[in-house]
Amino acid sequence: MNINKIASIVAVSAGIFAVTACGGKSMRKLAAERGLDTGYALAAGDIYPEKTVKILQNDCNIITSENCMKWGYMRPKKDFWNWGDPDALVAFAEKNGMKVKWHTLAWHQSNPPFLADMKTRADGIAMLDDYITTIMTRYKGRIYAYDVINEMFNEDGTLRDTIWLETIGPDYIEHALQTAHAADPAAKLYLNEYNNEAAGYAKSDAMYAMVKDFKERGVPIDGIGMQLHLAADQPFDEAAVRRNLQRYAAIGIDVSFSEVDVRKKVDGKPESAQAQQDLYCRLMRIALEEKNVKSFICWGFSDIHSWVPASFPGYGEALFYNTALKPKLVYKAVVKTIAENHE
Ligand code: G3I
Repeated sequence: MNINKIASIVAVSAGIFAVTACGGKSMRKLAAERGLDTGYALAAGDIYPEKTVKILQNDCNIITSENCMKWGYMRPKKDFWNWGDPDALVAFAEKNGMKVKWHTLAWHQSNPPFLADMKTRADGIAMLDDYITTIMTRYKGRIYAYDVINEMFNEDGTLRDTIWLETIGPDYIEHALQTAHAADPAAKLYLNEYNNEAAGYAKSDAMYAMVKDFKERGVPIDGIGMQLHLAADQPFDEAAVRRNLQRYAAIGIDVSFSEVDVRKKVDGKPESAQAQQDLYCRLMRIALEEKNVKSFICWGFSDIHSWVPASFPGYGEALFYNTALKPKLVYKAVVKTIAENHE
């Protein structure tokens, strides 16, 4: 028997142990007992097949939508609102006792062509306010949190040039937060970004400075999202991430690990799988220990569907379930990490 085979038998045994060691409790329950909501971004069709429903019921205290709550899907034409899929996701969440995080109210991507008709600041404000208010009034009291703005920064910390920056100006972010708060004062308002997790990086520092300024001036904001689309073979500066989380905690800001996936080289090598498992478990430990992290949401749940392989050739297998919808060892290791975490 070769060494890889022995290693995989040991690993499988460890996986089986991980399940029994958790006393039969689900990931969702274990995490919730420690103050953390776990969940996934869903495609609109995920809430129907019996097999996926079981996975979601077991793992999710919170869900979001990968696509159907974006402008281009929600309102592809000025006079047509596509409520079907979001309504169904919200109803599914309510039936199963899950929170909903709405992704997203304004972004530079997935926008319908008619937004190009906006010319003036007044056009931009009218369009954004109508959109935010229409959605948040319809779902008032039913959506736990909104990604009000998604991906507003460039890597150097300047504001990204978007249709909203161009038409409204740099105060479009705080304007959107004010409008959202007026529409549903109980909803948690988040700003969501990628590459914003490590303190000391220009984008992270610019986001922190903006949020701190909002807090000081009374602009309504509850949290920020760190997307965390990571690679198992890239360095991860845990100390800088914790410093960032702690400075947000100091100003009363919650954090969502909002789009987590850890991609690995699809090379069949045990060391690639191990590196992925280690990073996922570190992320989960950080989320459990830094108490202002409120949710750990993966950007999908199975290798049947993920944005990763098309965007990073040679990489994939970034999520918890394989293409047969069986939980992988990485999932079991993450559940074990939650079970073992004590105050
Ligand atoms: O549904 C159509 C299908 O009918 C058509 O045949 C096909 C042809 O290209 O396109 C399908 O739509 C695609 C959709 O994903 C569903 O698969 C869109 O082209 C494609 O642009 C869209 O990509 C999504 C992307 O955001 C842009 O909206 C990804 O699924 C989604 O994972 C990704 O999610 C983003 C977050 O919102 C923000 N953070 C980064 C993250 C990853 O890029």
